[in-house]
Amino acid sequence: MPISYFQCSQCGQKFEPETVTYTCLTCGGNLDTHFSFEEDPSEVNQDAILKSKEASLWRYAPLLAVPDPGFEKTPLHHVGMTPVYQPESLRQALDLKALFIKDESGNPSASFKDRASAIVVSRAIEANIDTIIAASTGNAGAAMACMAASVGKHAIILAPRTAPPAKIAQLLTFGAQVILIDGSYDDAFDLSIAASNEFGWYNRNTGYNPYTVEGKKTAGLEIWEQVLRHLPGEGELNVFIPVGDGNILSGVAKGFLDLLALGWIRKLPRLIGVQAEGSAAIYNAFVQDSDHVDPVKANTIADSISVDLPRDGLRALNRVRESNGLFITVNDKHILAAIRKLGSVGLFVEPAAAAAYAGMVKAVMIRKVDPAIPALVLATGSGLKDINAAMQSVLPAPIIEPSLQKLKEVLSV
Ligand SMILES: Cc1ncc(COP(=O)(O)O)c(C=O)c1O
Ligand SMILES: [Zn+2]
Repeated sequence: MPISYFQCSQCGQKFEPETVTYTCLTCGGNLDTHFSFEEDPSEVNQDAILKSKEASLWRYAPLLAVPDPGFEKTPLHHVGMTPVYQPESLRQALDLKALFIKDESGNPSASFKDRASAIVVSRAIEANIDTIIAASTGNAGAAMACMAASVGKHAIILAPRTAPPAKIAQLLTFGAQVILIDGSYDDAFDLSIAASNEFGWYNRNTGYNPYTVEGKKTAGLEIWEQVLRHLPGEGELNVFIPVGDGNILSGVAKGFLDLLALGWIRKLPRLIGVQAEGSAAIYNAFVQDSDHVDPVKANTIADSISVDLPRDGLRALNRVRESNGLFITVNDKHILAAIRKLGSVGLFVEPAAAAAYAGMVKAVMIRKVDPAIPALVLATGSGLKDINAAMQSVLPAPIIEPSLQKLKEVLSV
């Protein structure tokens, strides 16, 4: 579906699609993308989407900012439509009405970020762009490198040198040009923008390129198709999202806003942004009822949500407020406990994803949410991304000589 216009999420200014590439030319705010189906919902056939045999985010092509580029036999065509699990023991332990966990680890590069990268790379195909640069804590870069490799585009990724080795291994293996920054993610972000300005490369950065949100919104569309549509009554749902820059949250919210404009839902699900205590810039603004997101010095085990200055903080704040939601923080201990808890029902998640679950548990415990309302946790990345964190969440395995006697001793049988 062609874009009708971009609109600044901060000052409201509208732009013709071809007149702007990244952020608002007046105030620098992030851009929202608008389509003609918002005026005329009959342009989109809901039945055709629900009956589509396409088992990826491309089933929503009529709602997307880029046409389906094909490449059916590549990873680009196998992003999204991730499973939703309902672990009964976890639901019961918290006395929740219903608990859904949407597991993003099955995406081609094993995180949610493939959604944004699939749409950005498709935009690059459409606009005949060969080189794409991105700054990343690791996952966005891995996703960009994966999607670019799958269609023969060139990716340049700037990541902090402290990124977990598995993420750096992915970047290198996908053949991206990887430059590790002796600094933070925020430093990498600023440098990547300077580089794309200097060299004319297409920049995929989160909270900068408007197409990322258009990819991330597909999770909101899937939550509607897989969960919301089947809930009784008004379809109340609390959606827990891990937040660093705030772009995943803004993206999921955009999916719900598109659905509202289409009349396919009648109210917005409640969005609950979960930040790490050591990286809580947006949470701070929320509790202070402020419209300014002040930077922090981020420090958390959850590297994916470790951000000094959130690049989509204001929009995420507004989307949470609009949905009557809230922000909550969890500490690293909560995060490690959540890795173990989710492991106990067969889910292997990285710390950022565990943070979302830990936030849900805390929100229920301190009665910030009503357990009678179904909860959905967005588990955004695989535990294989950061095995050091996984090992910190468990006791080490005993090592024994290979004898039955020693085995009996260690098993106490
Ligand atoms: C696994 C995972 N979860 C959550 C996030 C947070 O997303 P955002 O920075 O858009 O808030 C990221 C971002 O890198 C991520 O990789
Ligand atoms: Zn603006």
